[in-house]
Formats: sequence, C-alpha cells, structure tokens
Amino acid sequence: MAIKKGTEIAPAKGKLGVLLVGLGAVSTTFIAGVEAIKMGLAEPIGSLTQMGTVRLGKRTENRSPAIKDFVPLASLNDLVFGAWDIFPESAYDAAMHAGVLEKDLLAKLKTPLQKIKPMKAVFDQNYVKRLNGENVKKGKNKFDLAEQLIAEIEEFKRKNKCARLVMVWAASTEIFLKQHAVYKTLKSFEQAMRDNHKAIAPSMIYAYAALKLGIPFANGAPNLTVDIPAMMELADQMGAPLCGKDFKTGQTLMKTILAPGLKSRMLGLHGWYSTNILGNRDGEVLDDPESFKTKEESKLSVLEHILQPDVYPALYKDFSHVVRINYYPPRGDNKEGWDNIDIFGWLGYKMQIKVDFLCRDSILAAPLVLDLALFLDLAQRVGMKGVQEWLSFYFKSPMTAPGLYPEHDIFIQLMKLKNTLRHLRGEDLITHLGLEYYD
Ligand SMILES: NC(=O)c1ccc[n+]([C@@H]2O[C@H](COP(=O)([O-])OP(=O)(O)OC[C@H]3O[C@@H](n4cnc5c(N)ncnc54)[C@H](O)[C@@H]3O)[C@@H](O)[C@H]2O)c1
Repeated sequence: MAIKKGTEIAPAKGKLGVLLVGLGAVSTTFIAGVEAIKMGLAEPIGSLTQMGTVRLGKRTENRSPAIKDFVPLASLNDLVFGAWDIFPESAYDAAMHAGVLEKDLLAKLKTPLQKIKPMKAVFDQNYVKRLNGENVKKGKNKFDLAEQLIAEIEEFKRKNKCARLVMVWAASTEIFLKQHAVYKTLKSFEQAMRDNHKAIAPSMIYAYAALKLGIPFANGAPNLTVDIPAMMELADQMGAPLCGKDFKTGQTLMKTILAPGLKSRMLGLHGWYSTNILGNRDGEVLDDPESFKTKEESKLSVLEHILQPDVYPALYKDFSHVVRINYYPPRGDNKEGWDNIDIFGWLGYKMQIKVDFLCRDSILAAPLVLDLALFLDLAQRVGMKGVQEWLSFYFKSPMTAPGLYPEHDIFIQLMKLKNTLRHLRGEDLITHLGLEYYD
C-alpha cells in the first residue's frame, strides 16, 4: 500500500543499533568515521543525510533545509554499533589491519573502537573461497544458526538499550547464486534451512534473522541474499524495509554519472572497457572467479539500463562492455580504476574518453553505510516495508518490485530519493518544469 503524502512519522527517540555483518575495511571506516565526527575531528563528507539539503517549493522561495532537519533521522550520538566477523579482532585492530585510515587518527579513536568486538560469524567457506577464520558459530543446521543469531540480536538490543536496530551486510562477496525453487516461499526457504540446503548462503541466514525480528536490512555486496521471494514475503509479514545490492562507489559511480550525460546529448557508444587494480581483502576475495562472477553481473548491468539499446538502436546497439578486477596487493584499499570509452558523434565520427580514478574504496563506501542505516530506520518509522526503491541511489544493482527494471541513472535516483522525502513531509514534488516563472 502506498504511503500517503505528509504521513505521520514516529520520532527517532532512543538509541539506534547498527548491526554490521563483516568488520572489515568498509565497516571499520564507517564506525571510525562516525566516532571522529562525534569528536569534532572531521566532517561527514560524502553523506547526504549529514550534508545534503532538499529544495522545497519554488526557486524564488529560498527554502532548502538540511535533509537531517527536514526528516527526523537518528542522531549520530544515538548510534550504537555491533558486528560479526570470522576474525576476532576488535574494530580498532581490524581498522589498523585494513589500513584505510591513518594510524594517528585511529589512535585518537582507540577507546570506542576497541570496545567493539565481533560476535561469532555464520560462515561457510564454500561461499567465500578465499577466506577462513576461527570466530565462527557452530550449529545443528542453518535454521539453528539463524535461531542463534536471533537470540544474539535480542541480547544485543537489551544490553545496549537500543530502541531500534538496522542491519547492513558489509561482509565479503559470496559466490554467484541463481534463483532456486527453495527461495519461492518462506515455508520452502525455512525447510531448506533445516535441510542444510546448499542454496542457502550465510548472508541469507543473517538476513532471515534480521527480517524475522522486523529489522530493516541493507545488502552492500552483490550477493543474492534478500533478492528472493521468500525474503520479500518475510519482510512484508514483519513490516521490515529492505534494500540492496552492492554499494555504488568508484568506477560504477563514475559510470552512472557519465553514461546519462552521454545519452542526454545523443552521443553513441561503441564500447566501454573498465579495469581496476585493488589490493585489499575485498580484492583478494574477488580474485576467486565465483565471487568475481557475482560482482561482474552487478557491474555489467548498469550501462544496458541507462543507455536503453532497444529504444536507441542507432546509438547503443551491440556496444561492448568489459569489466575486469585485478588483485594487486601493493595498492591496498586505494583502488585505481581505468575506463576507456569509445564514443561516436555527428555523422558517426569517433572519439575517446579516458578516466583514471585513483579512489579509496572504503572512503567512498563508509558514508553510504551511514545514510542507509539512517534512511532505513526512517523508512521503518514511517511504516514503509519491503523493497525501498527510493534508496537505489546507493546501489550498483538496485532492487525493485518484481517485473520493474531498475533506475541506474544517478540523477534520476537522487530525484527519486528527494521526492520521496518531500512526499513524506507533505511538500510538493519538484518537476523542474519552471514555466510558471515566465507567466
Ligand atoms: N568498498 C567499496 O567501495 C565497496 C563497494 C561495493 C561493495 N562493497 C562490498 O562490501 C563488502 C565489504 O567490503 P570491504 O572492503 O570492507 O571488505 P573486507 O574484506 O575488508 O571486509 C569484509 C569482512 O567480512 C568478513 N566476513 C566474510 N564473510 C563473513 C560472514 N559470513 N560473516 C561475518 N563476517 C564475514 C571478512 O572476514 C572481512 O573482515 C564486500 O562484499 C565488498 O564487495 C564494497
């Protein structure tokens, strides 16, 4: 059921527990960043919830409140962090290990970071071939593991006096899984968990536990996880919002900025070759062909959807799109992404664009984790449940209602997000028509 304009929103009272699956580069950069911002050591750059504004009414009205003043979001001071990982290191040690943030900064954040110790993970090496760790739960079967997670989450909530919780998957990319008959209904999914069926990946066990407790869930990796009918059924039953998949950072962010621009000028595309060198643990995991396949599918889909070759065959039929990721340890988290774009213009004359993005993966991803946690919590207080398409802005492979194609164009995604906020607060949507200024 659609949420009505200007609907009532429950206030963001009390503590919000942010449960992170995976305490690696992204999670620790996110937590450390929030702690640094709280101490006044840094600004929340890259976070729309903290730095963004939303224009209201006509351009002549000069009304552009900060998003965090416009909608009731949890304050950074009310966030409490919990995490699971297959390695027992604290958030401080894991952040040192990830090597994203400088040691000096981490030293100032040592006290809060050291307190965050990961709970034992639900893990199976069959789904992430390149990793193995000791901090792992044992259980009779996958259903039993889900029940252990549920009890642990309830305990976390009690111990930390949280009013509400959200869960974000920021753990390693699992192997590629296709839709399977056992995902069709909640009943068949639960039975498959009891049967230890191989179609049930660890990420699904976490997501099941979260949704079963009505906790919103965001999937930061390209794994199938919640993108199956059984999870939709559970989210609907429990009133939990969900979104995914795969944080949109780095090269795909650039792609969804550039491609809409090329299309807006009706410039054609012969090919887009993308390659990356990356040396963090994520890069190591993606060096396994089965995990890479999951990532590749996610990265490849964006151009087709933005450029619409069916609608514009003369411009975009049969363009070549290649994506490579190469694990190259010396670079650590500081990825380098190259794009060679072969375009054509007036009368078919060829041109080339080269992009060399020296980015920092986790620096780009951390603010997305913050925004997703805060927006998912908002969605739940509004009474929104199931797939949150308005959060497509944050993902490489946005989830949508069945049968609907995803919007990948970042500018459309941002408009969708801001219009959703306007709608929730009873403001008029902005169409950018503007003819009224010339009456
Ligand atoms: N950084 C980015 O820009 C970006 C963008 C899109 C997606 N992602 C995805 O986000 C995820 C995290 O990235 P990262 O750079 O932090 O990777 P990372 O390897 O540093 O951290 C992932 C952590 O998850 C842990 N882990 C693996 N399986 C687990 C399980 N079943 N339960 C609990 N913990 C588990 C690992 O031990 C590791 O510590 C990856 O899947 C990555 O593909 C990252």
